Amino acid sequence: MQKESDGLHRLEVLKVKHWTSSTFSFLCVRPANFRFRSGEFVMIGLESDNKPLLRAYSIASPNWHEEFEFYSIKVENGPLTSKLQCLNEGDNILFRNKPVGTLVNDALLRGKRLFLFSTGTGIAPFTSVIRDPETYEKFDEVILFQTCRHKNELEYGKSIVESISKDEILSEIVNDKLRFIPTTTREPSQYTGRITSWLKSKRFVEEIGSDLDPSEDRAMICGSNAMLNEFKEICLEKGFKEGSNSSPGQFVIEKAFVD
Ligand code: A2P
Repeated sequence: MQKESDGLHRLEVLKVKHWTSSTFSFLCVRPANFRFRSGEFVMIGLESDNKPLLRAYSIASPNWHEEFEFYSIKVENGPLTSKLQCLNEGDNILFRNKPVGTLVNDALLRGKRLFLFSTGTGIAPFTSVIRDPETYEKFDEVILFQTCRHKNELEYGKSIVESISKDEILSEIVNDKLRFIPTTTREPSQYTGRITSWLKSKRFVEEIGSDLDPSEDRAMICGSNAMLNEFKEICLEKGFKEGSNSSPGQFVIEKAFVD
């Protein structure tokens, strides 16, 4: 990790994987002595016109992992992602060593079930949270939802969930506590429809067995502004109290990276 004068560091890219025409992930060298809480985000980016161009990115790998991964959308003409998607092994990205965020276990009160609701690349903080042993100390069940337009956009999340069963230590901790429910909205698949529509109809209860209950359930939500607004309304209506790092609650929300 090379340090720049303005608090920025350079991180070497180890691997890039393009999952679909609109999504990719990249692994970097984990910065030395860098500590974060699973679910947090950092500012990363590239130099553009001799200036740093940075955006908030959730760290997709868990805090204990030697791998340091990000999962990104590709936005046509997006100031950063249009350049970031051209990354190759051996390139450097800029990185600011200040992890922050509310999609962390600390911002939630203890509970029985933890629901992780995401759309698109909003799954990134949750691929971190579902691989953190602390999550399973705090909750009996962890249910991860991801809604995408098409089936191929669900592959990244699926591969992470599958990787858990191949990890000797983690698979024992997670055991059968984790459930992944990937849904599509513009192509048929095992589960279809927006998860917000599930919650507003009987579909959620049919699949999960009971409705969201603020006395026992906790939720983390990550997606677009529209999705967050809709979810916030649903959670408040059901009597959930929003949490933060300074005042833990029953649900927390954060916008997924957009351009
Ligand atoms: P839909 O296909 O019905 O718009 P996007 O690519 O536009 O960010 O959407 C990603 C996924 O999130 C899509 O499956 C989309 O469904 C879904 N989505 C969009 N808005 C909402 C919302 N308000 N609540 C839940 N899901 C949403």
